[in-house]
Parts: sequence; structure tokens; C-alpha cells
Amino acid sequence: MQRAISSARDVIARCQLLAKCTTEPGFTTRPFLAEPMHEVHALLTSWMKDAGMTVSIDAAGNLRGCHAASRPTALRLFIGSHLDTVPRGGAYDGVLGVVLGVALIELLNGQHLNFNIEVIGFSEEEGFRFGVPFIGSRALIGELDEELLGKRDAAGVRVADAIREFGLDPTRIGEARAGTDAIGYFEFHIEQGPVLEDLRLQLAVVEAIAGQSRFSVSFRGQANHAGTTPMRLRRDALAGAAEWICVVEKEARSTSGLVATVGRVDTEPGAGNVIPGLVRGTLDIRHVENGERKAAVQRVRQAAEVIAASRGLSVSWEQYLDQPAVLMDASLTQVLERAIARSGYPVHRMTSGAGHDAMIVARRMPAAMLFLRSPAGISHHTAETVLEDDVAAALTAGLGFLKEIEARGA
Ligand code: GLV
Ligand code: MN
Ligand code: MN
Repeated sequence: MQRAISSARDVIARCQLLAKCTTEPGFTTRPFLAEPMHEVHALLTSWMKDAGMTVSIDAAGNLRGCHAASRPTALRLFIGSHLDTVPRGGAYDGVLGVVLGVALIELLNGQHLNFNIEVIGFSEEEGFRFGVPFIGSRALIGELDEELLGKRDAAGVRVADAIREFGLDPTRIGEARAGTDAIGYFEFHIEQGPVLEDLRLQLAVVEAIAGQSRFSVSFRGQANHAGTTPMRLRRDALAGAAEWICVVEKEARSTSGLVATVGRVDTEPGAGNVIPGLVRGTLDIRHVENGERKAAVQRVRQAAEVIAASRGLSVSWEQYLDQPAVLMDASLTQVLERAIARSGYPVHRMTSGAGHDAMIVARRMPAAMLFLRSPAGISHHTAETVLEDDVAAALTAGLGFLKEIEARGA
């Protein structure tokens, strides 16, 4: 435990150092393959190499460090999370899972197990730059296709161009795909919510990850003079969007387990003395039951039509994510629970409202996740943090998990 505590201190220091790799000084903002990702790769590479790992970067920009097995024909366990952040995000969302993976290898202290361990830092999970999330993990399961490579960011740069600008070759994406030797995928992540703190627990096993629907929603009216257009003759796109946003909030509040967020609205022309003619917004809706999520989407869509019609507006929708809820693998999760119990921690199961790379990788191999408590339940914010004791607990349980897999005979 003593080693886990000193290692936990290093893990936190490393996450804080990586948080300084940003496109926006004073904040942590790191979109897919933006320039500061080079620095993140360089730091992680040096820690991985010092731990005796073999390091490479695949064509999707995922950083991959391999700790070899004790025998040549062994299977492979992936341990990963993501290296990108939301704008002005925290120091731990994603990065912590990768840094913990490297720390586990360090704690093995040169010992090789009967399986390979590949620590993977995914290039993108948040969906901030291109709208579509999970670019890194989609490449690992062989689902980063031409359509996704052709998606453009706000500046018109395509995913494939961003990969090229970073110095990688998008025609080699296929090589990023995991082989058939995978035992499974394991992800450490902060909870990003208040549940564990409320229960006074340090760790939790994730049993399911909520499904997500994400849309662009536009309300179109008529831009006009703010001083001369009487109220009854206006077609104000922003007033319509605002009315609808309140309906979205009411819908989520009145449906158990549903969360719905309009996280962004852009208004045109965006002048104080012009009635807004166009509003482009986003909608993010999540529930662990796919049927509940889809039904809620239908209801808020219908509400948008009714509100638009009553105000002389038109409304249009583009769906860019329809990600079903995902169960973690029952057997790998049991192995994790055994490791937690044997490490002396209570075993608590919970569902995740946040999306994670594990939900994508689970399509291809057994996946399990361990949550660490999020103090004050804050995430996607600079105040995001983690406790040293909880990181030490995660390391102890993580090491136990590796030992359990070894004992099972990989
Ligand atoms: C990722 O952080 C998400 O759940 O939005
Ligand atoms: Mn996130
Ligand atoms: Mn995350």
C-alpha cells in the first residue's frame, strides 16, 4: 500500500503536468490531434519507455505502450482511456486512466505476466472538434470509416487532414485495429458525478453505460430591425429556441433517469439591435434504457415542431450520434470485483451517465471499468479533481485485477 500511495502522488502530479498541454493558456483545452497533443505524447512516451514499454502511435493518433508478456505467444489486455479534453476541461477526465495504466506497469517492477499489457491513450473521445465522439476507440475496433474521416471541424478541416497535419498517415488507419489476441479492455475513470462521494465510497465497478443521442437543431425565423418590428410581427428564432430549451429541461426533470442538455447555441446575426434570424444549437439526451431515450427524443422533437409552428419558424435536425447503452462484460467485471474485495474495499456497482471509450471497445472484446470518486462531483470543468487515497485504492485494486487475470491463466 505504501508504494501505491507514493505512486498515487506521482500519478496526480503527472496528470497536472499533462493538463498544461493546451491550446488555451490558463485552461486545459485539447481537441483531437491539436498541437499540444505532441507534448502529451512525448511525456507519456518517456514515462512508458522508462517503465520498459515499447511505444508507438497509430494512424488515428492513439498512443500505445506495450509491456511484454513472460512468453511470446501470449494474449493481450488493453488498459486505456482518452487524451483529449472538452474546452476548459479538467486534468483527470480521460488522462487519469492512461497515467494509471502506466503506473500499474511501474508497480509490476519489471515483472512480466502471462499476458501482454497494452496501455492506450486514445486521441479523441469527447466529440468536441468534429461533433462525432470516440474517434480513437473506433479505430481500435476497426470502425473508423471513410465517412468519419471525411467529417469537417468548424474551420472546414477534415478528420483525415487533421491526421495528416499531425504527421500521421490516414490510409494506415486499418493497422490500428486490435488483433484477435485481446483478452479484454479495462478502463479507470473518474466518476464525473456526485454518487460515490455521497455514499462515502472511493471506488465503483461500472455495470452499464447510458446510451446517448446527439443532434444539431436549428431554428430559422426572420432577422429584422429590433426597434421597428412590433412584437406580434416578429419571427424570433432565439425566443423560439429558448422556449424549446425549457421544454427539454422539463422533459428530463419529469422522466426518471433521463438527462438532456442543450450545451451550445449560436445566434445569427448576433447583434444587440437585430432580431435573431437563425439559431443553431445542440441537443444531448441520455438514458440507460434505449427505449426511454428514443421516446424522449421523439417528444422533444415534436415539441420543437409545435413551438416553431406557433411562432412562424422552421426547425431542422441532424443526428450525429445514436449510441445505444452498453453493458460491461459480466465475467471480466466479476474478476474486477474479486480484486476490489480482496484489496479490502467495498464492492459497489453503478451505471455511468458519461460516455466512455469502454462502450465502443465493448463491441469487439470484453470490457470492464473502475470508477474513482469525483470530489464535489465536478467534471468537464477546471475544478475537476481526485483524492490521493482514491488513486492509491484504484492502483491497489488495478494491480489485484492483473494478478487475478494472471491466476485465471490468460
Ligand atoms: C464524455 O465525456 C461524455 O459523456 O460526454
Ligand atoms: Mn469527458
Ligand atoms: Mn472521459
